Amino acid sequence: MSSSISLTVNGKSVTAAVEPPTLLVHFIREHLDLTGTHVGCDTSQCGACVVHVDGKSVKSCTMLAIQADGTEITTIEGVANGALHPMQAAFKEHHGLQCGFCTPGMVMAALDLVRRHPSPDEATVREGLDGNLCRCTGYHNIVAAVLAGAQAMRG
Ligand code: FES
Ligand code: FES
Repeated sequence: MSSSISLTVNGKSVTAAVEPPTLLVHFIREHLDLTGTHVGCDTSQCGACVVHVDGKSVKSCTMLAIQADGTEITTIEGVANGALHPMQAAFKEHHGLQCGFCTPGMVMAALDLVRRHPSPDEATVREGLDGNLCRCTGYHNIVAAVLAGAQAMRG
C-alpha cells in the first residue's frame, strides 16, 4: 500500500504517493525527474547521491522517501540560481571534474562542508569529502575547487 508524502523540493511543494520501500534517491530521480542526483553504489559508499535534507548533507540512498515527509530538500538542480553557484563555478574553473558522475554529490557535500566550516583548510576539505568517491580519482583538483569555492562564497 502506498503512502502519501508532502515535502518541499528545490523550493516547490511536492505531494506524492510512494511505496514504503522507495529510497529517497529513486523518488528524486524517478518520480521527480531530477536526474542530477546520481546513483553510484546504492549502498551508502560513493556519495554520488548526496542531497540536502533540511540543510544538511544526506546520502539519499540511505533514506526512504517516506522518511523525507515534511522535510525541505535541495538537489543539485536547486543550487544554481540563473548562473552557476560559486561552488559550481569553482569546480569548472579548477577542473574539479572529469566524467562528472561524482560531481553533483561532491558539490552538495562541499556546500554543507562550507556551511559548517566557512574557511576550511585543505585537511578539513579532504576529511569532509571522505564519504564521496571519484572514480576518475581527480581528488587534487576537487580539493582545489572546494577551497576556491569556499573563498568565493566568503566574497
Ligand atoms: S549511491 Fe548513495 S552513496 Fe552511492
Ligand atoms: S569526475 Fe568522474 S567520477 Fe568523479
